[in-house]
Amino acid sequence: MPERVIFQSAHPVDDAFNVVGTLADWQDQIGRYAEGNSRLMLALGAAFAAPLLHLTGYEGGGFHLKGASSIGKTTALAVAGSVWGGGGIRGYVRSWRTTANALEGIAALHCDTLLCLDEMGQLEPREAGHVAYMLSNGVGKARATRDGTTRKPLEWRLLFLSSGEIGLAEKMAEDGRGRRLAAGQQVRVVDLPADAGAGHGMFEQLHGFPNGDALARHLRLATSRVYGKPCRAFIPHLVDHPRRAGDQAAGYARECVDEWCPAGTSGQVLRVAARFGLVAAAGEMAARWGVAPWPAQAATRDVKRCFDDWLTERGGTEPAEVREAITTVRRFIEQHGASRFEPAGTAADPERDPRIINRVGFRRPDTSGGTEYLVLPESWRSEVCAGLDPVAAAKVLAERGMLARGSDGKLQDRQRVPGFANPIRCYRLTSRILDDA
Ligand SMILES: Nc1ncnc2c1ncn2[C@@H]1O[C@H](COP(=O)(O)OP(=O)(O)O)[C@@H](O)[C@H]1O
Ligand SMILES: [Mg+2]
Repeated sequence: MPERVIFQSAHPVDDAFNVVGTLADWQDQIGRYAEGNSRLMLALGAAFAAPLLHLTGYEGGGFHLKGASSIGKTTALAVAGSVWGGGGIRGYVRSWRTTANALEGIAALHCDTLLCLDEMGQLEPREAGHVAYMLSNGVGKARATRDGTTRKPLEWRLLFLSSGEIGLAEKMAEDGRGRRLAAGQQVRVVDLPADAGAGHGMFEQLHGFPNGDALARHLRLATSRVYGKPCRAFIPHLVDHPRRAGDQAAGYARECVDEWCPAGTSGQVLRVAARFGLVAAAGEMAARWGVAPWPAQAATRDVKRCFDDWLTERGGTEPAEVREAITTVRRFIEQHGASRFEPAGTAADPERDPRIINRVGFRRPDTSGGTEYLVLPESWRSEVCAGLDPVAAAKVLAERGMLARGSDGKLQDRQRVPGFANPIRCYRLTSRILDDA
């Protein structure tokens, strides 16, 4: 008789770790449709990667599928969930609509497994950033017990998949307090466009179905009928040789990062790439062990496509702060270049027009036929760089030739402007500020 082990959770939350159907059923009705469908492959890879966090020491975190309604986001979550369980009305997938408190209990229940959270839109904007961070960080709040001592906070380690019509950053901005998403939060929760760009919503490959709608409906029905077996076929391989499995996964993930990221890639991007790499590794291991029906390299190819889409959407491999400095200043010039910079060409400049309201500086033609902008220091700090570190932003731009340093090498330049007896101190933006990356 094999020993029976019954896990009793201290938290009275219904779990959905149920099994229905055989592994062959799952492969035939669900698993095989992932091949060539990058978002489905990512979702399934994440499902298999969750128990590898512990063996590889990788950090937890999430993937958030964002995009318009009815393109298959919830379906992707249901497909990933079918690796772990199902049943009930919602199956394995849970709703974002809950309190931070309840979510802690749910997270603890999903330790070392995949957590699927549908519809971030239902979450309070002011909670979004905090909750996303908490989930990836793996610790709940310390709370006082009735006798005033501190109860040990709940802890967990998990990967989560999330869906929503908007991204985490936009969600947080909804509360109108203009909060920005810290770079750390962007690294922990990866916003990925759910639309694969092939004209079939989340799908690229219809596998014989007439359209995306039919494939989505098939998958939804299948995930309500067949679930739970794949992880039970996968985990014994980890239990038998935990060290070896962990080393393999980490080694493969590292190879992916090396191959996908050019030298000089920022640390933030490398961290995200490592998470994608671990997902690819999990997808390959599931295939090698006969748990998943796709051929070798299929998972890597599809996960890489998601990573590339994420990178494109993010705007490249530079740190988030750098991109933010460039886009913030560029946006200001795009919006106010004509209205708030006084033309400072020669006195004969036909464009000269002193009727500028709330002037932040001057603009004039440069030698290459473009326009340069001279921003007054106080306006640079309080308006153009609102919310940024103004000196750091100036440095970022100077390194990229978007800001011309003074002849003494300082970030602020001294320039003569008609109407001023002495040269004025200013930040001199070159026309490259409006160039595309
Ligand atoms: N890729 C798709 N192309 C066309 N219709 C789709 C697609 N994905 C889903 N649908 C339709 O939308 C319905 C809802 O799917 P769901 O996965 O919940 O979408 P979402 O979560 O993106 O709103 C499905 O039952 C199906 O009819
Ligand atoms: Mg949905």
